[in-house]
Amino acid sequence: MANDTLLVRHTGTGREVEYPLLRGTMGADSVDIRALPRDLGCFTYDPGFIATSSCKSKITYIDGENGILLYRGYPIEQLAEHCEFTEVAYLLMNGELPNQTELRDFNEEISDRAIIHESLRKFFDGFHYDAHPMSMLVGVVGSLSAFYHSELNIKDSTHRKVCAARLIGKMPTIAAASYRHSVGRPFVYPRIDLSYCENFLNMMFSRSSQNYIDQDHYIDPYLVKALNLLFILHADHEQNASTSTVRLAGSTGANPYACIAAGIAALWGPAHGGANEAVLTMLAQIGSADNVPKFIAKAKDHDDPFRLMGFGHRVYKNFDPRATIIRKTCHDVLARTQKSDPLFDLALALEEQALNDDYFIEKKLYPNVDFYSGIIYKALNIPVDMFTVMFAIARTAGWVAHWLEMMEEPAPPIGRPRQLYIGPARRDFLPKGQRSGDTHVCNG
Ligand code: CMC
Repeated sequence: MANDTLLVRHTGTGREVEYPLLRGTMGADSVDIRALPRDLGCFTYDPGFIATSSCKSKITYIDGENGILLYRGYPIEQLAEHCEFTEVAYLLMNGELPNQTELRDFNEEISDRAIIHESLRKFFDGFHYDAHPMSMLVGVVGSLSAFYHSELNIKDSTHRKVCAARLIGKMPTIAAASYRHSVGRPFVYPRIDLSYCENFLNMMFSRSSQNYIDQDHYIDPYLVKALNLLFILHADHEQNASTSTVRLAGSTGANPYACIAAGIAALWGPAHGGANEAVLTMLAQIGSADNVPKFIAKAKDHDDPFRLMGFGHRVYKNFDPRATIIRKTCHDVLARTQKSDPLFDLALALEEQALNDDYFIEKKLYPNVDFYSGIIYKALNIPVDMFTVMFAIARTAGWVAHWLEMMEEPAPPIGRPRQLYIGPARRDFLPKGQRSGDTHVCNG
């Protein structure tokens, strides 16, 4: 039924108005209530945007009840198995998988754009030696518009594509530079002969006397594959907090570098991308399987702010398909690296007990993408404070895809929510000395 409507009745005035239901390709309909203030003189109240579609999008689809995630229609499981990360980035940005020539050209462009301006590199010298890599990432990405003035006309689609490729290309370089600064090692220049993931690992771990990936190109391909997989799984997730932030910033006409920096800032919090770092901190805090019941009890206690990090999701109410893939990869990577990680064993024990607990069952709380990703990053020797940076590298593909999609709209509206005002009603100004708490003022 194409013309379904939602009937809204104002019980105070008795007025009834019908609002059109918009139908997507899949998933729930959205009621178009834009005329509500005009028709009935009220707004909708939806803090946290639990019931709000903020835009139309063709990029990513999530079915939270059935644990389905599609990028441009393709199941995440298929992309994770067959693609390289840049192929998925191309898909997100352009809507179709690239053919061989398109992928080669795209990879070349991304590699060419990986280098950063020498003055930008010196930017890192200004950061304190123990700065968190996310603080450097957000600052340096925000400063990109100060270095790349050309192709910054956001009304020009060619300029927009250049900005998007620059961001995808430079993000690993800036991320690795943040890490190297934090451990006092010299910057490693990007190499165009390496794949996206290989190049990142080389920039992270090369010693000045020895390339991480040597002349014979040796690096365990399995570890590169694991990193590639994590990047694909984190590449996009429709209108999550950071992507919505990118869109909100973009809706004002801000430049794309500033928009992505805003997205990085939003990603940083432990309820979002910061959860992967928080999971490892939590596991270290729990310490041993014997302590799991105590921490589960803490997570269930409403008077205790503690939550099981890496558990729960706004949209997934059955399982997070990304977590399923990552959990399996954890086993494989640890077997491959011949590293037994007590934290992985602890994570498995925690998962098992939580999944059998009535509280977690009733509230449909399952491990999310961040619960196991840190175990793999750790096996790849990525330090814990870089975990959210890793998420940001991958999610840049999604952020730029959403920014491009929004900018292609003929007149994207500025994002400007309203509010339910609960502050004081109108009142008159009182001069100093006559305000609440003032005693008699003696001027003599
Ligand atoms: N541990 C214990 N209780 C939880 C948890 C948790 N991890 N997550 C939700 N709950 C409870 C919550 O207390 C609430 O209980 P009640 O209804 O009795 O008040 C109920 O479950 C619903 O929670 P909510 O906070 O209203 O749900 P939300 O959709 O607003 O929040 C979430 C989703 C991901 C922010 C939340 O589950 C959470 O804080 N999880 C831990 C942090 C985390 O792992 N974040 C990564 C999310 S996935 C990757 C990403 O987006 O970056």
